[in-house]
Amino acid sequence: MADPLADGASERIQSGTEASGSSIRYVQYTDENDLPIVMDLVDKELSEPYSIFTYRYFLHQWPHLCFISYDGDKPFGTVVCKMDLHRERMRGYVAMLVVDKAYRGKRVGSELVKMAISEMVKGGCEEVMLEAEVVNTGALRLYQGLGFVRDKRLHRYYLNGVDAYRLKLLLKLSEARLAEPAAAAETGGDGGAEVATDMIA
Ligand SMILES: CC(C)(COP(=O)(O)OP(=O)(O)OC[C@H]1O[C@@H](n2cnc3c(N)ncnc32)[C@H](O)[C@@H]1OP(=O)(O)O)[C@@H](O)C(=O)NCCC(=O)NCCS
Repeated sequence: MADPLADGASERIQSGTEASGSSIRYVQYTDENDLPIVMDLVDKELSEPYSIFTYRYFLHQWPHLCFISYDGDKPFGTVVCKMDLHRERMRGYVAMLVVDKAYRGKRVGSELVKMAISEMVKGGCEEVMLEAEVVNTGALRLYQGLGFVRDKRLHRYYLNGVDAYRLKLLLKLSEARLAEPAAAAETGGDGGAEVATDMIA
């Protein structure tokens, strides 16, 4: 079987912005060399402990849906996602998102999620799901800003006993996108994901 990481590495996405004197870059996950970087960032920030098998589950199958933000050579943020069929529709899922405390409030978290969603759109996803703690106002605000809406409340979803909101973002159907190139192009001006808030349920 072909190595699923090989293609991703050759088509690796990189983008950069200059912000307040520092150079912030966004780099797509490449291979196992990036795994400790992602694990360190996530383990430091999330309440939920993940095993290396969980990380490998996501990163081996969907390396193109993981991005790492760097300040120079220093990694400081990451997003880990997946996408698969759900009731005959492609569905994206944001599994992990963290930004180091020193870099928060600069829209890096939003940018990481937008880059992952952009890849999901390319892969034909029609919706994106995720869960966030009901007390995590920062994450809820970030996702609300990207057009996510609350789908349901999950009682004691996390190991720490906290409830979660399941959040959902509906994306334009890929077929509609192909049929209406002008409409699809109108949201793609900033290089980020084409997030269609007009399709939210
Ligand atoms: C949640 C997290 C990723 C946000 O990263 P970030 O880079 O600071 O987020 P952004 O700068 O893109 O913020 C996007 C929006 O959310 C708001 N926001 C972010 N953190 C906030 C906070 N703690 N309180 C209130 N609003 C917050 C921003 O003000 C911004 O709102 P605006 O669009 O109205 O201006 C970061 O705080 C983090 O890593 N937290 C710990 C891990 C975590 O909770 N991950 C999410 C799991 S679901």
